[in-house]
Amino acid sequence: MIAHHVKNAVEGQMLAATLFMQASNAKPDKPVGLATGGTMDGVYQQLVANSFKPGFKHAFALDEYDGISPGSKNSYLHELTEKFSKALDWSGQLHVPGQGLYAHEAGNQEFEEALADLGPLSVQLLGIGTNGHIAFNEPGSDFASRTRRVELHQETVSANSIYFDDPQSMPTHANTQGLATIAQADMLLLVVLGEHKQAALTKSIRHPDQSTPLAALLEHPKLVLVTDQEF
Ligand code: F6R
Repeated sequence: MIAHHVKNAVEGQMLAATLFMQASNAKPDKPVGLATGGTMDGVYQQLVANSFKPGFKHAFALDEYDGISPGSKNSYLHELTEKFSKALDWSGQLHVPGQGLYAHEAGNQEFEEALADLGPLSVQLLGIGTNGHIAFNEPGSDFASRTRRVELHQETVSANSIYFDDPQSMPTHANTQGLATIAQADMLLLVVLGEHKQAALTKSIRHPDQSTPLAALLEHPKLVLVTDQEF
């Protein structure tokens, strides 16, 4: 693992944006992997600030709430459409597990097939949950897991329900790339910013085991960490 220590969140988001642009520009015929959430909002804002013009034609999302309407402001498809595609004036195709083309029974399998056909990804953006989840692979997830429907942990439901106007409407399930799916990307760019992530990061790196999904990715040949935390 290559670790970059930064002074604060803004510096981390700027560095992550620079590394993302470099990695995707180096392989413009390959798709990229996108994540959502507060950490990535700042990374995407930095891409916009840099007037980034993507060369890639396809982007694969890590995950999506199960059963959420694509038009809901809380759907990850909506979030990526607004904060990535529209913000960068990018007209390529977003592939989101369980949404659009993949919103049916065999959707997760077809998502895997599209990834295999078009991939490997030049770079996959990753965040980490306060409970250590990677995408929606919660603690205890199989390291050999592929894209599938999962039940969210109570900590994830509590952490994310604040984004819903009615917290009770927060979905309890999601579709997520598996840990083995994520490991296929040429480069993993993990962005961990804020004191609230420190415990999960330290545990995942110092005491990796089945309860720390990041453990499945620690031996990846190109895992790059950007963090403002000690671990
Ligand atoms: C979202 C995702 C999640 C987030 C994680 C951190 O696509 O895969 O694993 O990366 O929950 O989210 P934030 O950045 O909101 O703390």
